[in-house]
Amino acid sequence: MKMKVAGISGSLRRGSYNSLLLRLAAASAPESMAVEIASIREIPLYDGDVESESGIPPPVAALKDALAAADGLLIATPEYNHSIPGVVKNAIDWLSRPPRDIPRVFGGLPVAIMGATPGRGGTQLAQAAWLPVLRALGTRPWFGRIMVVSNAAQIFGEERITDDDTRARLERFISGFAEFVSGAGRRRD
Ligand code: FNR
Repeated sequence: MKMKVAGISGSLRRGSYNSLLLRLAAASAPESMAVEIASIREIPLYDGDVESESGIPPPVAALKDALAAADGLLIATPEYNHSIPGVVKNAIDWLSRPPRDIPRVFGGLPVAIMGATPGRGGTQLAQAAWLPVLRALGTRPWFGRIMVVSNAAQIFGEERITDDDTRARLERFISGFAEFVSGAGRRRD
C-alpha cells in the first residue's frame, strides 16, 4: 500500500519558498509515497481559555486526525530570528493538545525537516530549534540527510529548482526519507 506522508509548510506567504520546496519535494517523491500537503492557515492562536471552554477547534482536530493517520510528516520550515517561526510553532502547540492525545497524533511518527531561506544559513538554526520539539512529542525524527536551501531567490524559479545540485539533493532527501518511513512502521505507544 502507498505510504502517506503529511506535508506542512511553516509559512503562510503566497510566494513562500518553503511551500514551494514542499510542493517540489512532493512532486519528486518516489511512487511508493504520497506527500499530502496540509495547511496551517486556519489554526487560531493557542488560547488555554478557548481550549477549556470550547475544546479543540475543528481545523486543529482535522489536522490531528490527518497526522494520526499518516505514516510520516515532512516539515518545510522557514527560519525567523534563528528559530522556528511562531505561526508553525503555534500550530504544533495546538496539535499537542490535550497531552493525552500526543501518542495518537505524534507517537513514533517519522519526521523529516527541511527548509529554505533567501539568506546564507539555509535554515540550519531553525532546523536545530525543531529538535527538542520533536523529542517532546515522542516523534521519530529522521537524520539521514540534511536538506537546507540558501540563496532561495536564486535557487528557485517558477515552480522549479534552477540549480542541478539542489534538485539532486532534494531527490536524494525525499527518497531517503521514503526508505526510512517504509522501514520505520509507526509505533504509537
Ligand atoms: C526572517 N528571515 C530570516 N532568514 C534567515 O535565514 N534567518 C533568520 O533568522 C531570519 N529571520 C527572519 C525574521 C523574520 C521575522 C522574518 C519575517 C524573516 C527571512 C526569511 O528567511 C524569509 O522571509 C523567507 O522568505 C521566509 O520563508 P518563506 O515565507 O519564503 O517560506
